[in-house]
Amino acid sequence: MFQLKTLIAALGFALAGSAFAAGADLASFHSKMGGCAVCHDTNTVTAAAVPDDERDLNAKCNTCHGGYKALAEKSKNLPFNPHASHLGNINCTSCHKAHEEPKLACNDCHSFDMKMPFASKTDKSAKATDARKAGEGSWDERIDEKALAAALAAPARETVDVVVIGAGSTGYNAAISAKRAGANVLLLEKHAFSGGNSMLAAGGYNAVGTKQQAKKGVHDTVESFIADTMKGGRGKNDPELVRILAEESAAGIEWLESLGANMDDLKRSGGAAHDRTHRPADGSSVGPHIIDVLRAAAEKEGVPARVNSRVVKINLDADHKIESVIVHGKHSGYYKLAAKAVVLATGGFGMNNEMVSFYRPTFKGMTSSNNVTSTGDGLRMALDIGASATDIDWVQAHPTVGKESRILISETVRGVGAVMVNVKGERFVNELTTRDRASDAILAQPERSAWLVFDSQLYKKAKMVRGYDHLGMLRKADTVEGLAKAMGADPKTLEKTLADYNAYRAAGKDEAFGRADMPLSIDKAPFYAVAVAPGIHHTMGGVAISTESEVLDIQSRPIPGLYAAGEVTGGVHGFNRLGGNAVADTVVFGRRAGEHAAKYALSK
Ligand code: FUM
Repeated sequence: MFQLKTLIAALGFALAGSAFAAGADLASFHSKMGGCAVCHDTNTVTAAAVPDDERDLNAKCNTCHGGYKALAEKSKNLPFNPHASHLGNINCTSCHKAHEEPKLACNDCHSFDMKMPFASKTDKSAKATDARKAGEGSWDERIDEKALAAALAAPARETVDVVVIGAGSTGYNAAISAKRAGANVLLLEKHAFSGGNSMLAAGGYNAVGTKQQAKKGVHDTVESFIADTMKGGRGKNDPELVRILAEESAAGIEWLESLGANMDDLKRSGGAAHDRTHRPADGSSVGPHIIDVLRAAAEKEGVPARVNSRVVKINLDADHKIESVIVHGKHSGYYKLAAKAVVLATGGFGMNNEMVSFYRPTFKGMTSSNNVTSTGDGLRMALDIGASATDIDWVQAHPTVGKESRILISETVRGVGAVMVNVKGERFVNELTTRDRASDAILAQPERSAWLVFDSQLYKKAKMVRGYDHLGMLRKADTVEGLAKAMGADPKTLEKTLADYNAYRAAGKDEAFGRADMPLSIDKAPFYAVAVAPGIHHTMGGVAISTESEVLDIQSRPIPGLYAAGEVTGGVHGFNRLGGNAVADTVVFGRRAGEHAAKYALSK
């Protein structure tokens, strides 16, 4: 074993781009060192014997190559470091496929020009606007009807009290809560790694009545949170769900902190009357931080999170109660899993072009900031068994997705102080209005795009901006004139725009657009700009739920044993979601769904 380790370590990353013969793959290369047992537990391996979560395989990778930290150190001189990404500590096999072409998971959203070890070509699959197509094909969603029928006819292979479908923030919160309530829980994730769309959340978590607000002297109230959320949703939200969101928001922050999260930074998001968006104090993005914390907590509390396991069908018994689900495991094939309760935590459908085009035709073909996992499959399964949909045609375009990309330029950038200008260099909207209004204002500009402009003060304060810089998305200049030229805008116009804005800020009143919060001046070189355009960000509609997170049928009666939370549900956000309310939704309603599902299951 020692020799094998030394050999592999010596090869290190020299493998990238090396000239292995066509047809050579990671598995063949490793098997030459001692057969299948180099990676598997034995030399006689059948596909079905490989656990779907590939945990053991990955443990073997780590034995020889070291864990993430060691790998990040080794790959730190690559143009970008694939082992130090916001995806966190995921299975090696998410990218390094042994028996097939490797795939850079980062390129589900990015377009890094990188050749992976054993790849036949450079992987740039998710380039710019055709990213949604690439994303949709990133795993197989087709159903093998014959295999499904066989699984339906067969007895259950496993039995649990509660199965949670989808391992983003909602799913983890639900699963940990159900486990703590005494249930035997299994968390299933269709993708090769957990995190879902939450992994991409960059803004923060809206909460009222927290110690962070008290420390900063913010005089916020539950009523104000409710009023902002209802106003943002144009009054179409379910008021009872909104009240729960507001009232339980602070407890959700405490819960995350008890699991190890830091939520000490506080800022204001669009449509909010107070600073109530909580984020990690070091300025990092909220989603990856929360997911890291939740993954570790689930592991510690014995909640199995089984990746590569896609639920394809939910089954009811003769009394229309939850009976089981059919899972398509990457290696184990189709099988039945009996459960007394199911929690749907499957997210929205922002990456499903067909569903978006159907429910919101005007957004057809628009780019999306969503993870490739947001395909609406949970919603479709629930509708198939009689769930009722609510607000289903309300799809949110986020105003600032990087132009011709899938990278969200977080609302934090505007919240911390950037202004938004058109191609001439003029402001045209209150940057902190609600997203629907900001998106409409951009789409009314002749180029249907805009620029966010800021200076070195913001660059220092909002850590995520360094990420955009690293991705090559920023224009930069030492003078406003130089920046205008780099943007293709008129220098005199941009100079006047910034001078006016700085004067409004100094006077404490935005005479042009009534922006209430202007935290920074824009006058300290260097100056920066990033091009943005609206992209699909959140699907407000979904299954209808009760205040106990029960999924309702078309007569508004709970489907016994079926619960849902997060973006797969409708009602919380109305016509338009406010920034920071999605993460709060995943925690508040994720916990509720888990607790109620456990209570129901344990009563059966
Ligand atoms: O712009 C953002 O950071 C997004 C935040 C959110 O959707 O809540």
